Amino acid sequence: MEKIIFDTDPGIDDAMAILFAQACSNIDLIGITTGFGNANIATATRNALFLKKQFKLAADVARGAAEPLVIPVDEPADFVHGDNGLGNIDIDESNLPSVAPLAAPDYIIEKLKESPGEITLVAVGRMTNLALALRKCPEIKSLVKQVVIMGGAFGHNGKTGNVTPFAEANIIGDPHAADEVLRADWPVTVVGLDVTTKTIMSNAYLHGLQKTSPKYGKFIYDITRFYANFHQQTDQVDGIYVHDSSAIMYVSAPHLFTTVEGPIRVITEGPAIGHTMQKTQTKRYPVDAWSDYPSQKVCCDVDVENYLRIYQQELA
Ligand code: BDR
Ligand code: CA
Repeated sequence: MEKIIFDTDPGIDDAMAILFAQACSNIDLIGITTGFGNANIATATRNALFLKKQFKLAADVARGAAEPLVIPVDEPADFVHGDNGLGNIDIDESNLPSVAPLAAPDYIIEKLKESPGEITLVAVGRMTNLALALRKCPEIKSLVKQVVIMGGAFGHNGKTGNVTPFAEANIIGDPHAADEVLRADWPVTVVGLDVTTKTIMSNAYLHGLQKTSPKYGKFIYDITRFYANFHQQTDQVDGIYVHDSSAIMYVSAPHLFTTVEGPIRVITEGPAIGHTMQKTQTKRYPVDAWSDYPSQKVCCDVDVENYLRIYQQELA
């Protein structure tokens, strides 16, 4: 069993990933830490608590940072995820469970100390909580099993950004935090747009989940209507890109992914702010700007057919 703490800004695809983690036969979702991004921190936390109640999740929910480390907080991405962060479906706010007594960075630190070497941190929103945990307790670098991040874009499969031509949402939302997380000497794998936009769930596939997954299918279909409409309008995609669940899939079935190794850094100012760059052996770099950065992994390809099959099986 892979124990994970899931750092997230629910968010439609975040909610899908939470349910996928819950359903996955080899994943033990012990905690959900929340952040701002797709919704503000209050709404993102409310949505995590709603999912905990609705699907009887055992995972704790710890509230996280409300704003980035350095740059001002951006407006929530309501045009992607709806005003309520969950595609504007009705949310029953009665009898929501309480948040954990610790704030997200402290929760992360405490859990990693309790189970050294056992917990994977999966982060699919801004990396602010992870950076704050690292600042407060640098020893967590040696306590974590691995860190898996959904964010960034490295030019594989032609992908470079979805907010600007250079930057992906989770990275540009707090580029300084992302850079600190990638600079830390702990094992990070980045699942970026390079593979998440290659993995598309069509509307027919999402519709089919209602039959194959009596527990989760209808909810997933309902929340993805708003999201699918956004994808249709912006990228003429029939269905949705599968961003955040890809980070869970990497933990559960890493053999589906091909990775490239090399140090990664984030541009933190100027017109390319939020751009992620990996130094690889196959390219020449006249300027070595990566000397303080450890080698990390970037996913450059994914077996989409088996991905979609496994996702459906695990949710059944
Ligand atoms: C990322 O941004 C958010 O909209 C999604 O939840 C995902 O984490 C994709 O760029
Ligand atoms: Ca997210």
